[in-house]
Amino acid sequence: MEKNVLSRWEFSTIVNSMKPSAIESILKAIGDPEMISFGGGLPNPESFPVDDVKKVFDELITKSGRQMLQYGATEGLKSLSVAISKRMKQQLSINSDPSEIVQTTGSQEALYLLGKILANPGDYVISEAPTYLGAITAFRASGIRMIGVEMDQYGMKMDALRRTLKKYSHPKFIYVLPNFQNPTGISMNLERRKEFLEIISDEGIIALEDDPYGSLRFSGTQLPALKALDKNNNVIYMGTFSKVLAPGFRLGYTIAPPEIVDKMKLVKQALDLASSTISEYIAEGYLSGGYIDRWIPNVIELYRRKRDLMLKSLEEYLPSDVEFTRPDGGMFIWVTKKGANTDKMLEDAIKKKVLYVVGSEFYPDGDNHESMRINFTYSSDEKIVEGVRRLGKVFEGAGK
Ligand SMILES: Cc1ncc(COP(=O)(O)O)c(C=O)c1O
Repeated sequence: MEKNVLSRWEFSTIVNSMKPSAIESILKAIGDPEMISFGGGLPNPESFPVDDVKKVFDELITKSGRQMLQYGATEGLKSLSVAISKRMKQQLSINSDPSEIVQTTGSQEALYLLGKILANPGDYVISEAPTYLGAITAFRASGIRMIGVEMDQYGMKMDALRRTLKKYSHPKFIYVLPNFQNPTGISMNLERRKEFLEIISDEGIIALEDDPYGSLRFSGTQLPALKALDKNNNVIYMGTFSKVLAPGFRLGYTIAPPEIVDKMKLVKQALDLASSTISEYIAEGYLSGGYIDRWIPNVIELYRRKRDLMLKSLEEYLPSDVEFTRPDGGMFIWVTKKGANTDKMLEDAIKKKVLYVVGSEFYPDGDNHESMRINFTYSSDEKIVEGVRRLGKVFEGAGK
């Protein structure tokens, strides 16, 4: 018998049901210096407030070094929860007590925690289709079955949601991205937001509102968060410092009723005990010192320029039968050609040295191969223009 135990190991059913995403092959191709990647979802390093972070860090390590390097509370640094609660009130009219906030290791951890505490393996959860790939992965890791609801340019379609709720009558929750959705860049309009809240309260369902991009609005008027419109406390709100400060902090926050906060803490203790105290201290200094509000306009200006450049290049280089979204914020554009198969086109794209993420990756159930997600925040201006030119050639080649 083979002496090496791993060679005959049977991994758990859940991990066997998880598959590596296309992102992995994209990450491999990124190693090629000639490659232009619109595939990742990375913020531009120019958007990181390095000098401000240094200033805050230097002050804090001198003043509070011993606390900052210690383990922290599972729910996070109290003064940071106070600062987040205040900011949420000012920016989004969300009322919260600091005790209703759990800081997490990125909002990605919150997705995992919420999937784990709200649903049992085999339970159904509803999301937009397409939706954020990381949420699909996080929920599947708890054995959740995901059902996607069709979208149009105003977000999740409410008639489609009603039909889905008739078919799958007891979903555990609905996961939504109302602002500049990943992957489409689409925002849910006000009418839909209100109708959505009516539906969930009539049906007795909780909603998870994921809002990493809400502060990155380049055009149009701000829409109220679901959590701010919700009178019945049925919405759990997730935010993150990843796109307005830096993802290296690995710091997100969830605003939820106390019962949920307690359960999240239980599972978080099993996962990582607490998030990074260093990150929490710096984020607190960054918020309380007013640095964040002085810096965000710089990020918006940088990204608005890149979005405009990408839209202009798409108009110039893509064949006229290719459609694309025109997001008012966020980091992504969704490109669609009726009848195309972007999975098949990827090989040619890699040959032509441009990368995107195939749209099919973002559909929780079902097959849709007509779209691709492209990121406009990471690449230099020159690479945006050249990459879109190459993409145009890929589309031209696919028609032949
Ligand atoms: C929609 C959405 N939710 C959550 C996350 C996770 O972000 P983080 O864990 O860095 O807070 C991302 C990251 O790209 C995202 O796009």
